[in-house]
Amino acid sequence: MLLNVMFYLLFLLPQVGSFNSIFNYWQCLGIKSKIDFSKPYGCNVGDLPLIVWKNDKTNKLMTTINVCKHMGSKMDKGKIENGCLKCPYHGLEFSEKDTFGQTMEQDGKIFWAYNPIHKIPHKIPFFSNPLYVNNFLQIDMDCSLIDSAYNTMDIRHPEFVHNNLGFGSNLYPLNINSFKYKDRIGLKFDYLSNDLMRYINNVNHTNNFHMFVVPNFTWSKVSFNKKNLLISVNFLPLEKQKTRWFITITHDYNKDTNGQQILKILASTIISQDYVQLRNQYEENELKKAMILKHTFKDEEAIIMLKELLKNYKYPDIKDSHEIYKHNEACNFFGYKPTNL
Ligand code: FES
Ligand SMILES: [Fe+2]
Repeated sequence: MLLNVMFYLLFLLPQVGSFNSIFNYWQCLGIKSKIDFSKPYGCNVGDLPLIVWKNDKTNKLMTTINVCKHMGSKMDKGKIENGCLKCPYHGLEFSEKDTFGQTMEQDGKIFWAYNPIHKIPHKIPFFSNPLYVNNFLQIDMDCSLIDSAYNTMDIRHPEFVHNNLGFGSNLYPLNINSFKYKDRIGLKFDYLSNDLMRYINNVNHTNNFHMFVVPNFTWSKVSFNKKNLLISVNFLPLEKQKTRWFITITHDYNKDTNGQQILKILASTIISQDYVQLRNQYEENELKKAMILKHTFKDEEAIIMLKELLKNYKYPDIKDSHEIYKHNEACNFFGYKPTNL
């Protein structure tokens, strides 16, 4: 035991620096209904490759790093047998003891975190309310997570980005208020409806509320006539300039099949308009970091506060992935779960 401790102190501890804490926030890896769980499911969190499989005996979801510890095969083409994931190259079996981090299902999506700060992922308001229906969309945006975050709290772009097909309005929002909490920013405003919105919703204005929860979750609620439409997004960084948006559309009106389809098309249209702008964002680097928000327009307090809350966000690159692997190895060496170290 003493030798173990000395080995740990001398060799492992200096290498196990603090890893990128983004790994300790729940990361949405996929929409459950779109995943074929008869096979393993591969997905990256930044540069960290993960592979998820469902234990065919217990139905428990498990995740390990998608690099076989024998000769480095990826395991997307592996087989699931007796609850284990079997590497396709030489058949090494990965069981529950090989799991890396924690995996769970929440609000129709699959989440993973290394050593989760929160017990469960943030819930989508009204998702489980029987009066509401939910639909999902998924899109890869060619921009950073930071650009994605700012976009969701930005009340100025609808006039320019969403106006051509009838979304947004060139009428400036009213009653704008922003709120800062420990790990989230809220933004409240009223929108005067444009002709299309007036036609669809039969109202002249809507009450809007946006919430961004650091570092990777946002929801916005549009309310009118006591009805609500919520668009929630879980962001997953895939590359420095690529962020997967898992979108959930939740509403308590237009609930018949056609109505749901219409709201899904409306949401897709809004998102594809954002896609066109967001691929036009400058890449994240020191120059951009120094320049961004040097100018602000009026009513951009929410974005300024968001910048402050996200100031420690760093894209999880391969160096961070190596660090977290070493941390996990050190924990395994002493037979501890990461929470105990
Ligand atoms: S590379 Fe996976 S078993 Fe050999
Ligand atoms: Fe937008």
